[in-house]
Amino acid sequence: MSKMKNIILIFAICSTFLSCDTTGKKEVTKETDSLLITIDSSLQIATRQYEFLSKQVTPGNYPKTYNKEKNKLETSGSGWWCSGFYPGTMLYLDEVSETDKFQNQITAFLGNLQKEQYNTTTHDLGFMMFCSFGNAERILKNQKYEEILMNSARSLSTRYNDTAKVIRSWDSAPWNHAGNDQIAVIIDNMMNLELLLWASDFSKDSTFYNIAVNHANTTMANHFRPDFSSFHEVIYDENTGEAIAHITNQGAADSSSWSRGQAWGLYGYTMMYRETGDKKYLQQAQHIADYILNNSKLPKDKIPYWDFDAPNIPNVNRDSSAAAIMASALIELCTYSEEDKSKRYLQNAALMLSTLLSPEYFAKVGENGGFLLKHGVGNMPNNSEIDTPLSYGDYYLVEAMIRYKNLKNHIK
Ligand code: GLY
Repeated sequence: MSKMKNIILIFAICSTFLSCDTTGKKEVTKETDSLLITIDSSLQIATRQYEFLSKQVTPGNYPKTYNKEKNKLETSGSGWWCSGFYPGTMLYLDEVSETDKFQNQITAFLGNLQKEQYNTTTHDLGFMMFCSFGNAERILKNQKYEEILMNSARSLSTRYNDTAKVIRSWDSAPWNHAGNDQIAVIIDNMMNLELLLWASDFSKDSTFYNIAVNHANTTMANHFRPDFSSFHEVIYDENTGEAIAHITNQGAADSSSWSRGQAWGLYGYTMMYRETGDKKYLQQAQHIADYILNNSKLPKDKIPYWDFDAPNIPNVNRDSSAAAIMASALIELCTYSEEDKSKRYLQNAALMLSTLLSPEYFAKVGENGGFLLKHGVGNMPNNSEIDTPLSYGDYYLVEAMIRYKNLKNHIK
């Protein structure tokens, strides 16, 4: 992190402290202190649960989800977009408990994953390589990881189109509009930019920075509606760069607000502000947060339905993974936001975490196939991974718990 970014972060943490101190201190302190105790015990349970999970997998088979009916753990190879979350979660758990309980698993699963540094067929390299090797580089400080991350950033950059100024998401997919001269971009792609910003910072090669910023700017211009909800997917004309269609793949409708998509946007623009210091990204993240938190369809317990516009609300599935991503993003966003907003973001994140850590969502050790969170929705229109654990739900839940803990420890 650059000196400038450190200054922003320290300032932001102090602002959060002041905001909590001058506005309803008693209420906030009471609520957050009990959550802190819950988080500490939940992190211990999470470590035991992942020890249980780790006994069921072999390197090369990355835990994805658990099929309750068949009592079957479902795994993927290293090329699936979720492969980085399992080693990433173990890295977080070892870091927070200051142990090396998962060291062998981490080494084995990273070892199998490293070949993906040369994979140019997916935009998901940020998820796959930064959640895993990014954390490994930050925590374990191994030069080998720096090289893997640089190669991953180079591979991801090959997907950039300088006419449309976006990174191509999918090479082929069942969308209606895109053909050979069209580029499909999904909002999830915002999450892959952190890898490029790391590479720019590390190598001092601004090409990576420019790609990330261009992609974020183009997405800001074309993916968002006037109320700051986002489309899942935008199709660009490769020759003119024009946005020619706004559609969905995982949402309820082209015009709907798929909950995890809103979460990716929130997290993505919060991260863009952290890494660039550009205020327009902060404002974008705040607009997205306000859209989510003001939405009349967001339940009182703050766990969104799988789509904000799903037909038959309230009799539809929640998506715990969307809530975990939102909670993690809101905790960071509160540190950059002015008093009123800051307090609101933190309180909502705390509510999300309290619900996610309740027995309704947080599994007991040995249950839920070894995963932490219950009730995620992977792909509703595809009828797959419905009301199920998801490796990314776990990853962002653990990240949110650690962020919350760090924030509270700073402002004590
Ligand atoms: N990136 C895929 C998803 O959120 O389901």
